[in-house]
Amino acid sequence: MEKKRSNFSGKIGFVLAAAGSAVGLGNIWRFPYLTAEYGGGIFLLVYLILVVTFGFALMIAEIALGRKTGKSAIEAFSDLSPKWGFLGKLTAAVPIIIFPYYCVIGGWVIKYVIVFVSGQVQAAAGSDFFSSFISAEIEPIVWLSLFIGATLVVVIFGVEKGIEKASKVMMPILVILSVVVAAFVIFRPEAKEGLKFYLMPDFSKFSSKTVLGAMGQLFYSMSLAMGIMITYGSYMKKDVHLEKSVKQIEIFDFGIAFLAGLMIIPAIFAFGSSEDLQAGAGLMFVVLPKIFANMSMGGLLGAIFFVLVLFAALTSAISLMETIVSILMDKLHWNRTLSCIVVALWGILIGIPASLGYGAWSGVQPLGLSILDFFDFISNSVLMPIVAFLTCIFVGHVIKPKEIIEEVELNGTFKRKKIFEVFIKYIAPIFIILILLSSIANTMGWMKI
Ligand code: PHE
Repeated sequence: MEKKRSNFSGKIGFVLAAAGSAVGLGNIWRFPYLTAEYGGGIFLLVYLILVVTFGFALMIAEIALGRKTGKSAIEAFSDLSPKWGFLGKLTAAVPIIIFPYYCVIGGWVIKYVIVFVSGQVQAAAGSDFFSSFISAEIEPIVWLSLFIGATLVVVIFGVEKGIEKASKVMMPILVILSVVVAAFVIFRPEAKEGLKFYLMPDFSKFSSKTVLGAMGQLFYSMSLAMGIMITYGSYMKKDVHLEKSVKQIEIFDFGIAFLAGLMIIPAIFAFGSSEDLQAGAGLMFVVLPKIFANMSMGGLLGAIFFVLVLFAALTSAISLMETIVSILMDKLHWNRTLSCIVVALWGILIGIPASLGYGAWSGVQPLGLSILDFFDFISNSVLMPIVAFLTCIFVGHVIKPKEIIEEVELNGTFKRKKIFEVFIKYIAPIFIILILLSSIANTMGWMKI
């Protein structure tokens, strides 16, 4: 007899868990630096428009697919159309690749929490603090294992008692801490210039790059095209209003990204230099500690900041682990505990080379990238756009949008139905192909977008 599938207890549980997945390192670290790179306010505006159109269409499609079939990512597609089983496998590959390296970065965040909480702000601001930390052999792997351990403890308790409970505690704290840090920064007199850059769109800075950059960020940030929303959708009760829930997840995801921009961009304008805005990946671990070290109460603020980043990273890692666990449970009929342990071991096994890629193994450079960046490239720049594209084709042209619309309308009217249909059928697939081509070309160095 088939076991009853676990469920979130109600709407809040579902929304907080899905928002927990969406709100992650992408919102807090990647969003502000992309915004800075692509011209400030104009990027913010374009991103917001994409969230409520593209992001909305894909997210509602994935959640509805999950709820309708009650299946994990690997089986949801074949359940509706047997020939499309390959898309399930492709989708399943994404979280399997992302999980280990995401946890490596999660481990770095734990380290920074400890450093700031123990008052070592000045040390963290030292010029080679970060590079010497990540190039060490053992220490980052210890933090990686600890981060995976924390994720495991939550997921092992299951959907309602583990994930839902943890999200109900972590997400509200994350929101409060974000507001506190942002308020701290924006009420300083030095913040004016940065705020203007961030909040006033300069339309002369708009170009196709703005849209492509925002779109790449969108899929990652909303946890789309990696089976997560399908999995969480499969745990959603039939009486929960799907469209309203998606709207709340959008608000969370955009809201936290917006707040992160408010914390980081004015701080850099006031205390950093304009090159810092281009610091990319180093922004969070290199530039911010320097800024905290220069601010009064920076030590405390830094500690709060890294705790909130840790919560954001943990809820995202939880969703990645759960997606893989649900695949193992559905496909191989393993129990939850065994599946969790296997996924944790996988994370450590692949996380180790990803971590060593910054030190002992820095000579290993697939496609000229570090090992971690290589995994990131394969999942985010290659697989995710392909999965997103095929998901649009699947929903828009194979099973047809009607299937999704019916699922959404189980609980009332579907307000953005037209937007959903037009985007999923035509606009999204075309743009996704453009992102795919441009990101591959960009990494291969054929052109600079
Ligand atoms: N959405 C998360 C973020 O913005 C990223 C993420 C990636 C979450 C992969 C889960 C899985 O950081």
